[in-house]
Amino acid sequence: MANVNVELKARDPNPEVTAARCLNLGAVAADTLNQRDVYFHTHRGRLKLRTQDAGGGELIAYRRDDATEASESTYVRAAVSDSVSEALDAALGTTVVVSKRRRLYLWEGVRIHLDEVEGLGSFIEFEAVLPDAGDIETARGKVARLRSELGIEDDALVGVGYADLLMDGPEALVRAARAAMENAYAPYSQFKVGAAVRAPTGAIYAGGNVENVAYPQGQCAEASALGALVAAGETAITAVAVVAERVEVCPPCGGCRQRLSEFGGASTSVYLGPTATTLGELLPGAFDRKALA
Ligand code: THU
Repeated sequence: MANVNVELKARDPNPEVTAARCLNLGAVAADTLNQRDVYFHTHRGRLKLRTQDAGGGELIAYRRDDATEASESTYVRAAVSDSVSEALDAALGTTVVVSKRRRLYLWEGVRIHLDEVEGLGSFIEFEAVLPDAGDIETARGKVARLRSELGIEDDALVGVGYADLLMDGPEALVRAARAAMENAYAPYSQFKVGAAVRAPTGAIYAGGNVENVAYPQGQCAEASALGALVAAGETAITAVAVVAERVEVCPPCGGCRQRLSEFGGASTSVYLGPTATTLGELLPGAFDRKALA
């Protein structure tokens, strides 16, 4: 059976102050959990296998629109053995693993999560579970009241899940780009490059440069990664990483800036070794479809 939550998430610069405020509001400190969520590639919505201290696993399929305002999420939960993770990984592939320490507080049917997420930092999350928190309007009202009592500013709000933050961040993309770089075929230049792109579905596609004895036939790593994206049926990118074996920062060549712009926008993040930029900065005034109109 599908369930519905009203949810809101924000960065929390000071979790200890927030914890004290929650208790002042009459929230009850219920539990502290170490949770590990493994996300799998899916065709629709999200699928994660959650394991926590107590052992055993729970498979959670859900859909939620990315939104900074309090938003609704529909989900289905199924208790499973945690070894199901191996079967799903083998069949679907894992996109990202989210590990966190969650302090759970309960207030009028709303679950308040104070989360320390590995690689991301501290967050607060409200999950008003229906029908415990009342009907949907009542649940929204409760979330709005908690937000104002805890002084959560607009610029602290986060509209996407932890998995998205991790996937759009450099770690997973750079890892995928490095793995592709190891397999690059660059016997002529000895300059191995790896690139990885992330699609809106969360899937990551990577490729390395492929050279040829007829030099002009060689292909850049970015082109290989985009070929993998398109072969999988995707036509958009939300983030890019490029790495090279011999330099810390490998700026994409002019042609690859244009190739990447075909599938991304000016604000698409581009991670070049330890630095971050955007497609718009790399290729201002890109030739785009508007020019053909
Ligand atoms: N290369 C890339 O793979 N991507 C770039 O954006 C710059 C250059 C490759 C092409 C060639 O195989 C090698 O690096 C040396 O130019």
